[in-house]
Amino acid sequence: MVAFTVNGQRHEVSVAPDTPLLWVLREHLKLTGTKFGCGIAACGACTVHIDGEAVRSCAMPVSLIAGKSVTTIEGLSSDGNHPLQRAWIAEQVPQCGYCQSGQIMQAATLLATNKNPSRDEIVEHMDGNICRCGTYLRIISAIERAAREG
Ligand code: FES
Ligand code: FES
Repeated sequence: MVAFTVNGQRHEVSVAPDTPLLWVLREHLKLTGTKFGCGIAACGACTVHIDGEAVRSCAMPVSLIAGKSVTTIEGLSSDGNHPLQRAWIAEQVPQCGYCQSGQIMQAATLLATNKNPSRDEIVEHMDGNICRCGTYLRIISAIERAAREG
């Protein structure tokens, strides 16, 4: 049994200790906003926050998050009104949408520590999040907008 908090709610799950957190989120807790892309920590589609840090949930054994606090895209804001979510809509960022939860969760950890990142800082921070549709320029614009309008 592993106990941890997800989006402010305590959960206990009974799974094999090496079960990836992504599986627990999607299959056990039905939080399907977090996506499976590669399964080897190489694309960022599965990015969530663990105690405020951006983490690839596909490569995180659930046993390692006992007692920790997880935030998924469903918990980033209570009403979809996080500055990044507003900016994402204003800039019409998504194409297929598959990578976008991970992109937003990755970006959120940048703005949490750097309210006014430079373009280079944004590019560097987002470097590991792949978008097969090539929405990178709109992602950068949306992060700049969120920083501006926060
Ligand atoms: S699915 Fe986790 S990094 Fe690709
Ligand atoms: S919007 Fe399609 S993969 Fe990023």
